[in-house]
Amino acid sequence: VNWHDGSLQGEHISQSHKTFGQIAGLFQDQDAARRMDANTIVYTVQWVSPAAHEGALLWGNTTLEPGRVADEYFMTHGHFHQRRDRSEFYATISGEGALLLMDEARKTWFEPMTAGSLHYIAGNLAHRVANVGNIPLRLVACWHADAGHDYSEIAKNGFSARLLCRDGIPALVGEARE
Ligand code: PA5
Ligand code: NI
Repeated sequence: VNWHDGSLQGEHISQSHKTFGQIAGLFQDQDAARRMDANTIVYTVQWVSPAAHEGALLWGNTTLEPGRVADEYFMTHGHFHQRRDRSEFYATISGEGALLLMDEARKTWFEPMTAGSLHYIAGNLAHRVANVGNIPLRLVACWHADAGHDYSEIAKNGFSARLLCRDGIPALVGEARE
C-alpha cells in the first residue's frame, strides 16, 4: 500500500467498478436519479487477496467520485459484515468525505473524513462513505479476510438517515419510517 496515493502494488490485486446504474436505487430523489448517466463510474474498489489463512487481514482502496443526485452526495452502497465481530479500519488519503455508521438498532451518525484521518469501524456497525467535496475521495481499508459483506439490510431498508447538502454543508437528515 502506497500511503501517499493509496495505490496497491504487488500480486493478487483485483478491481471492481460501480456505475451509477448499479446504485441508482440508493438515492432518495428517483426523478433526479433517472436523469443521471447510468454508465458513469461512481466508485472503484481495489483489493489484495493473497491466499487466505486464519486471521488474515486484507487491504484495499476505494476511490469515490464527487457528485450529487439532487442534494444527496455520491456514496457507496454500504454494508454490515457477515461476521458482526469483524472490525475494519478506513484511512483517508485525499478528498473530503463522511463515514456514515449505523448500529444494529438503526442509529446512524457520521465522522468527517479528511486526508490523514483514520477511522475504526466496530464489527457490528454498517458503514458507508459519501464524498462531500469536489475532488475524488480516496481511502484505504484494512479488514479481516473472513468478515464477509452483508448488503441485505442496507439494500432493503437503507440507513436510517441520509447525508444531504444543506446550505452547502453536509447534514444528516432522518427519514420518516413506519
Ligand atoms: O471493505 C470495505 O468496507 C470497503 O472496501 C468497501 O467494500 C468499499 O468501500 C465499497 O463499499 P461497498 O462494499 O459498501 O459498496
Ligand atoms: Ni466493510
